[in-house]
Amino acid sequence: METLLQKAFSADAFRTNGHKLIDLLADRLANSQNTTQPFSLCWQEADNMLEYWKQDAQKPLLEEPFELFSNILSHSINLYSKSTMGHQVPPPAPHAVLGTLLTAFLNNGSAVYEMGMTGNALEKMIIAEMAKTFGLGDDVSGFITSGGTLGNLTALLCARAVMQDAGDDDNSQLAALVSVEAHYSVERAMRVMGYDVENVIKVPVNEHFQIRTDLLEEYYEKAVAAGKKVFCIIGCACSTSTGSYDDLEALALFAKKHNLWFHVDGAHGAAAVYSPKYKHLLNGIEHADSIIVDFHKMMCVPSLSTAVIFRRPGDSYKTFAQKAQYLWADQEKKEWQNSGKRTFECTKPMTVVSIYTLMRMYGNELFKENVETLCALAAQFAALVTAHPHFELAVQPQSNIVCFRYIAAGNLDDINKRILQHLVREGKYYITGTTLNNSFCLRTAIMNPLTGITEFEGLLEYIQQVPL
Ligand SMILES: Cc1ncc(COP(=O)(O)O)c(C=O)c1O
Repeated sequence: METLLQKAFSADAFRTNGHKLIDLLADRLANSQNTTQPFSLCWQEADNMLEYWKQDAQKPLLEEPFELFSNILSHSINLYSKSTMGHQVPPPAPHAVLGTLLTAFLNNGSAVYEMGMTGNALEKMIIAEMAKTFGLGDDVSGFITSGGTLGNLTALLCARAVMQDAGDDDNSQLAALVSVEAHYSVERAMRVMGYDVENVIKVPVNEHFQIRTDLLEEYYEKAVAAGKKVFCIIGCACSTSTGSYDDLEALALFAKKHNLWFHVDGAHGAAAVYSPKYKHLLNGIEHADSIIVDFHKMMCVPSLSTAVIFRRPGDSYKTFAQKAQYLWADQEKKEWQNSGKRTFECTKPMTVVSIYTLMRMYGNELFKENVETLCALAAQFAALVTAHPHFELAVQPQSNIVCFRYIAAGNLDDINKRILQHLVREGKYYITGTTLNNSFCLRTAIMNPLTGITEFEGLLEYIQQVPL
């Protein structure tokens, strides 16, 4: 009789069920692209969802997983829907998804060279190519890590380690200069590093939600007077709420003047570098000491996959320098191929395969098209909002994020919050909200390049029908 383990590892069952799964997903993809009916998610209260899955777990064991896969699909938000315009998470390009399937099958962790030979080589190659594209030069270092949050932490840890390495051991009051609009992961990173919230010096933004570079000196001086040691400045490229790009040239100059580490959080928007039309937004990034870019935002791959790029070749080795006798023969040697010496993760998925698959199939032209399409769509939606008598645009978008409000008699914050709640629960359109200048706004991140005027007009129409 077949043992459970024999069953679980059956090649035939894998082939049959794998084909069925791909058919299921391809149908979902085709339906999402072809339908004219907006549909993003089938909302359920969290407790009901928990109950649903608790009951599922009580059912008899499955002979094959098709029904389970179908259920998971129908109980999840559909990012391939053209009416999903919520968070900055893309519908991944299908071949990048296949790349992820391959890497899950391989399960090659990349910490140790022989466990991730291809992954380590591809990472080195892609980081070098990207660094050149950003204008950092040839002699850089970097790797891919699991998300922008970890990327920001890794870069800031490195900034501190480099400072210590230069002989400056007093790091008790280190502080970072950043815009009030920076992603929360920057503050989280500083807290993980052992600093108070006050050590994140938040500089106000201008009317475009870009850091006020005219205030940098004042905030820096104030921090120093309060006993802080400002060690780095972080540029948003772009910010999360509004997609605004900081003036990276001004930040680079400021960093140089005060001998600060210059980090660019390009998690969302650094992919603009591939577009001749938008890359000017990144002017100044070529002076960065470190840059992060999320492939799983504007570059069409599944989460999480983030490039962390360092200007200098040795820097990436300083962050996590420590001994692990059982992993590497030579603890001190700078070996790019043993990437675990430099990354937070030990077992690290080979996510580089997904981005490399897209690069090999379509070239960087795909990212150019994606960035330009998404930004053009955002501009189109912003123009619709501006022209509409019942809507107000919060700020002209610089990228693919549009913030706006519905205007009606009454408390606009309450009204727009109620609209958002209604939208999420009805599930036809999925958008998010944010607070700008103390006002609650609706927020769309256009991540699906197939979203278009039909969805934009439909959304505005739908919002006007929401019972208030
Ligand atoms: C500007 C910015 N930085 C960092 C992050 C964090 O990235 P992740 O979700 O990959 O951890 C985000 C996420 O939205 C972001 O918008």
